[in-house]
Amino acid sequence: MNSIKSLVMSSCLRNKDKFSSIITKYEEHGILHSEMLAVCSVIQNLDINLIIESGRYNGQSTEILARFFSGTKIKIVSIEIIKDQNAKYVEEKLKKYSNLILLYGDSKDLIPKILTIYQKGKVAILFDGPKGEAPIKIFKKVICDFPKVNVGFFHDMRKSTEKMPNPTRKIMKHSFNRVFFTDNNEYIENFKQLDYPIIKTGIWRPWMKGNNKIGSYGPTLAVVLPVSTERVMESEEEKTTTSNLISFLKNTKNNLKRIFTKKVTNFNLIENIKYILRNIKKVIYDK
Ligand SMILES: C[S@@+](CC[C@H](N)C(=O)[O-])C[C@H]1O[C@@H](n2cnc3c(N)ncnc32)[C@H](O)[C@@H]1O
Repeated sequence: MNSIKSLVMSSCLRNKDKFSSIITKYEEHGILHSEMLAVCSVIQNLDINLIIESGRYNGQSTEILARFFSGTKIKIVSIEIIKDQNAKYVEEKLKKYSNLILLYGDSKDLIPKILTIYQKGKVAILFDGPKGEAPIKIFKKVICDFPKVNVGFFHDMRKSTEKMPNPTRKIMKHSFNRVFFTDNNEYIENFKQLDYPIIKTGIWRPWMKGNNKIGSYGPTLAVVLPVSTERVMESEEEKTTTSNLISFLKNTKNNLKRIFTKKVTNFNLIENIKYILRNIKKVIYDK
């Protein structure tokens, strides 16, 4: 089992009973219960101090976080961009939770502001709005600027089908090295029963959204544990050097393959070595 999968699975197995005891009814458009289990369990396991939620809507995920972490050191800051009548109703519903702070604004601006002010400990970020590539970009930036950001959760990462494409899944897969998706078969088998009440009342069904078949069991949550190389923002110059290096390594691999499979004559061998040396020089001196 890879390390992130085993971390998510073991954390969820350990926290499933506590989680089952705090969930109530399901609000439409909310993150599935089986997906929120991963959020709460991994946060518990990583000894996080602050959770930032981006995208509150009816506050279903917000309330789950508040209930699960009630009586612990963990505080939750929830950001919502729309302040309308519904937002007022949600404020009323959530005002009984003392571990919650509700903010209004664009999380692209507010997340860095919160992280600049907050000095106490480790931070987790849950993104459920904005959608698409935007949260990935925000996260990539904040993990470079703020080492205390330990984990990110991203909703709506289901696989594509021809009729129901989701290009964000591919972007997510290529953006981070350590990523786990909750449409993993073993994960679904272990935790899908948490969604049974939703199946009875909501529009979501396993592998379906409305009348359309989707590529995954559910909307799907991605869990990301950033690695140290992802915490360095590449400048344009560095990006060019990296892409030079990658194409150099690819060429070198192909050349070495040709040398070792004896597809080259002695003359070509010398030319190949010269080519490799030229490229090493190019990469080192960036010329
Ligand atoms: C799917 S809903 C959130 C549902 C909620 N997380 C739950 O599980 O109950 C997405 C929300 O994200 C909000 N949103 C979209 N872009 C945002 C942004 N840039 N900053 C903060 N909130 C945003 C939308 O207004 C919407 O209310």
